[in-house]
Amino acid sequence: MCGIVGYLGKRQAAPVLIDGLYALEYRGYDSVGIALSDGSTLKIIKKIGRVKEIESARAERGMVGIGHTRWATHGDVTAENAHPHTFRGITLVHNGIIENAEKLKKQCIEEGETFASETDSEVIAHLIAAEYRGDLLDAVRRGCARLVGSYALAVLCEGEPDTVVCARMRSPLIVGKAKDGLVVASDIPAVAEKDASLYSLEDGDFARLKGDEIEIFNAAGEKTLRERMEFDLEDGAADRRGYRHFMRKEIDDIPEVLRASKEEIDRSFCNLDLYRVLCQTEYIQVVACGTAYHSGLCFQAALERVCRIPVEVDIASEYRYMDPIVRRGTLLIAVSQSGETADTLAAVRLAKRRGAFVIAVVNVKYSSLARLADAVLYTRAGREVAVAATKSFNAQLMALYSIVEAFAAVKGRRVPTLSHIERRAARTIAAAEGVRGWVPYFVGAKSVYFIGRGVDMCTALEGSLKLKEISYLPSEGYAAGELKHGTLALIEPFTPVVAILTRRDIAEKTMNAVHEAYARGASIFLVTCFEEFCTEKEIASSVLIPKCPSDFSPILSVIPLQLLAYYVSIARGNDPDKPRNLAKSVTVE
Ligand code: AGP
Repeated sequence: MCGIVGYLGKRQAAPVLIDGLYALEYRGYDSVGIALSDGSTLKIIKKIGRVKEIESARAERGMVGIGHTRWATHGDVTAENAHPHTFRGITLVHNGIIENAEKLKKQCIEEGETFASETDSEVIAHLIAAEYRGDLLDAVRRGCARLVGSYALAVLCEGEPDTVVCARMRSPLIVGKAKDGLVVASDIPAVAEKDASLYSLEDGDFARLKGDEIEIFNAAGEKTLRERMEFDLEDGAADRRGYRHFMRKEIDDIPEVLRASKEEIDRSFCNLDLYRVLCQTEYIQVVACGTAYHSGLCFQAALERVCRIPVEVDIASEYRYMDPIVRRGTLLIAVSQSGETADTLAAVRLAKRRGAFVIAVVNVKYSSLARLADAVLYTRAGREVAVAATKSFNAQLMALYSIVEAFAAVKGRRVPTLSHIERRAARTIAAAEGVRGWVPYFVGAKSVYFIGRGVDMCTALEGSLKLKEISYLPSEGYAAGELKHGTLALIEPFTPVVAILTRRDIAEKTMNAVHEAYARGASIFLVTCFEEFCTEKEIASSVLIPKCPSDFSPILSVIPLQLLAYYVSIARGNDPDKPRNLAKSVTVE
């Protein structure tokens, strides 16, 4: 996924574009570029690296422009592959993947055209140029008609220097009127300002920005209007509030996020239609990716134990190709922080086509998932800037546990309460600072293992992902009882093993795995709410967290693991907010 932005109006475009790209860096930061037009000439500045690499372009002149921050999909991270791409007077930026790009490129080359890059995006410029007869909107529509795949485009043309044409197909794109001009962007934070009117394009839409007018056309070519988006400038504000990294701030945000999310979810459940859906539910499926997938596993562990209702949890990129069985009465819960993850959206579209009722648990209003679902439970995590999900995971659990509570009410089952959870989360964060002492054991480790049983295994999976994605250390989350069936062979002296232990009835069983790893030289670290295990001789160090209903324990037990990943990442000299190779929202397949 990448971030695109565009502007035309009374201000110089460069500062608007560059500031917008900073707000979109969470979508990718391999390379960056802008194109500026002053009405007669078009200038392109593009570099490898982050937005700061083009700060020198801030003074460039031009009242019309487009910009792009890239997460590489087709083509290496090179200046040539950076956007914008240009061909015969057409210049564009693109977010998405064109699946038939190679075939189209071959046709262009056979017609004698040459390419400056390895990207699929440049092919689009060639197609539009071939269709251009003096009407950019028409040329973009014709060019896009030949594409298979996903795209969000902003296009400039030498022949129409006062115009920006946009197109959207399965990659988010918003257009709007801001102060002194018109804007287009992948996401609200890039263009949000007081009194701005922003509109989310739908799949198949085209838009023409010219003068002070925005024209939107639907897939049938009919002029149309789109819903004005409400947004809270605070939500979009990327303010570190004095923290060194967003990730550390976002972990500290967790108590307030839990309070706000619970308040929002309770409001949603005032709508009795949701209870009616739960009453009519025969089967439950959950689809998600990454951290959101782990929150789905935590939900499954809780709902099955509390309400005795079976739950199927699938990785979205698997679900969509496994020819899933969607029986009558299936409720599909799609979990996504961004609401733009391509695999999750595709899985939801498939489930809907097969008759499922879809509830989305999502953090971003007006996201594609929020608009696709039949019902939405918004988490109130606020904007999560760090690529590694932290507060959004805890917020997802708050929402999912609320669904467990609702099912328990419908089924007449007792359910543990999460009262004062924000206070317990704050105490957990304070206790978890102790993981700083663990860092020397981890920073040079060859591999790290997180183990647990039942719901603690779900937490182990999330702790492992956190560590991997920002410290780049090989790590595995594992069922504690499974270690001895093979993976124990990888345990060497001083291999760090983190055990999560929040269920008292199987604590000794988890400790068996601890003993087995310890006997082979592992250094054992414990996250638990049972103090008696912290003093066992096998434990090198532990974090004692507040008690919490064990079925809901990941909402707290994950916090020490989030902090551990953060501190190991910075100890290894990484940027925990922008880890290599990754991006916050994976809007491509
Ligand atoms: C988690 O830290 C990662 N950022 C990643 O696994 C993420 O959870 C996944 O890409 C799903 O994103 P979503 O919640 O926006 O759908």
